[in-house]
Amino acid sequence: MVTGAAGQVGRALVRAAVGRSVTGFTSAEWDITDPAAARDLIEPGDVLINCAAFTDVDGAEANPERARAVNAAGPEHLATACAAVGARLIHISTDYVFGGAPGRDRPYEPDDQPAPLSVYGRTKLDGERAVLAACPQARIVRTAWVYTGDDGGRDFVSVMRARARAGEVSEVVDDQIGSPTYVRDLVTALLTIVDLDVTMPIVHAANAGAVSRYRQARAVYAAAGADPKLVRPVPSARHPRPAARPGYSALGSVLSERAGLTRLRDWRAALDDALSGVGGPGHR
Ligand SMILES: NC(=O)c1ccc[n+]([C@@H]2O[C@H](COP(=O)([O-])OP(=O)(O)OC[C@H]3O[C@@H](n4cnc5c(N)ncnc54)[C@H](OP(=O)(O)O)[C@@H]3O)[C@@H](O)[C@H]2O)c1
Repeated sequence: MVTGAAGQVGRALVRAAVGRSVTGFTSAEWDITDPAAARDLIEPGDVLINCAAFTDVDGAEANPERARAVNAAGPEHLATACAAVGARLIHISTDYVFGGAPGRDRPYEPDDQPAPLSVYGRTKLDGERAVLAACPQARIVRTAWVYTGDDGGRDFVSVMRARARAGEVSEVVDDQIGSPTYVRDLVTALLTIVDLDVTMPIVHAANAGAVSRYRQARAVYAAAGADPKLVRPVPSARHPRPAARPGYSALGSVLSERAGLTRLRDWRAALDDALSGVGGPGHR
């Protein structure tokens, strides 16, 4: 079962799970903030991957109650219902639970201390904690900077590619460093976790390596055949946003590999794959 199935990750997950017995639920079909829905729908032996979340990082600053309901209370309802009937829960979380203190250049491992800077990050962290308190057998999978590269997509890579094709200049921040993650690699990792049941409560699933938004955007422009110099580096202060973002939030995979997860390939190889169309029809 996949909640949030109309979202970026949920869609890719349902598509990748073809051949398995999988049911995706949109927010209209299963509102995770409704505890009765979780009780009614979850049955013994089910495996539920929760892709539902309030993901508007800036919007969460103005709407913390809704962010908390979807990112913390909702996952807690799912965990409580899963624990009650013996179903498995895999819940997705984020690199924004980390604070990226100045000077940090070592990828965060699951046992590093979270220090979220935004309502989104705080509510996601609260969701992690609520899930594990209600259902200690649940697994939290943190990921980061997820993209599809789809034509018409709203993720960073899709938008940058469209701008590259249009020959537009883009000012992109060079003081936010993270782990861009191709959605297809993330859902492969999620299905591996379904099959293997990793041995740690929290794992990281992000493409390997760390890069700034600026460098990532340049790579997208180059892959799209545009001049990377059309991408100009700017500090975050140049484009103030309601929510603070960590200056560094790359996710490391050392402990996750020990827990049984295969290291995701380097972000650059994944980006080239995403933008080259490898994978055949239906790839995007
Ligand atoms: N995208 C990233 O860069 C990124 C990075 C790190 C972690 N993550 C995590 O990855 C997971 C999936 O995110 P995504 O990128 O797929 O986000 P997304 O495209 O925004 O999808 C989220 C989905 O959740 C649904 N949803 C919202 N409120 C709901 C509710 N009350 N009940 C049921 N469904 C609800 C939304 O449906 P409606 O549109 O109908 O509301 C939407 O389809 C989330 O846990 C997110 O925190 C994402």
